[in-house]
Amino acid sequence: MLYKNSLGISHEIIKKIVKEGDIVVDATAGNGNDTLFLACLVGNAGVVYSFDIQEVAILNTKKRLEEAKVYDRVKLIHDGHENVDKYINKNVKAVMFNLGYLPKGDHGKATKGKTTIKSIEKCLELLQVDGVITIVIYYGGDSGFEEKDEIFSYIKNIDSKKYAVLVHEFVNQMNCPPIAVCIEKIC
Ligand SMILES: C[S@@+](CC[C@H](N)C(=O)[O-])C[C@H]1O[C@@H](n2cnc3c(N)ncnc32)[C@H](O)[C@@H]1O
Repeated sequence: MLYKNSLGISHEIIKKIVKEGDIVVDATAGNGNDTLFLACLVGNAGVVYSFDIQEVAILNTKKRLEEAKVYDRVKLIHDGHENVDKYINKNVKAVMFNLGYLPKGDHGKATKGKTTIKSIEKCLELLQVDGVITIVIYYGGDSGFEEKDEIFSYIKNIDSKKYAVLVHEFVNQMNCPPIAVCIEKIC
């Protein structure tokens, strides 16, 4: 199957864009899968900034990176991604948002539309030309529809002269399948 799910689509996009030596961001560290994926792509010369509000997520991610021997190229930040501009003041090649809650974790500590949008706004400024932001949005069930609806209202109004916004959606699947959004900075 060419595109199995939204997370797979976001990884395919990131793989095409991110090269060794790049500076990139994982906006939601969680259990460290995406941070590890990014750390492998940027290599020794690159940097991954990885954010999470939960200490358990930061610890899980650190362990994952140490086991894979790539912790040296990652800056783990125990803070909300809405504060991204406090930690990064240079252009970045890519930003990954994998929204929702930590699997098997506290569903009350899920991402929220307001802070996610604040972070996306700041990341659009940090992004270098030809860089991308990927967003995997979970909705329905525990996640509800609020964050998805807020993000859609926001991304539909992003300046089309500067950014291309693409939505990948499995329209023939049941039970609210996750949606992959890709925002590319075109000039
Ligand atoms: C679906 S998980 C991320 C999965 C992760 N990318 C991975 O590969 O394992 C979502 C994470 O977002 C975190 N989160 C919620 N609000 C946040 C915020 N404002 N800033 C950063 N992380 C946040 C949660 O704590 C949770 O760990």
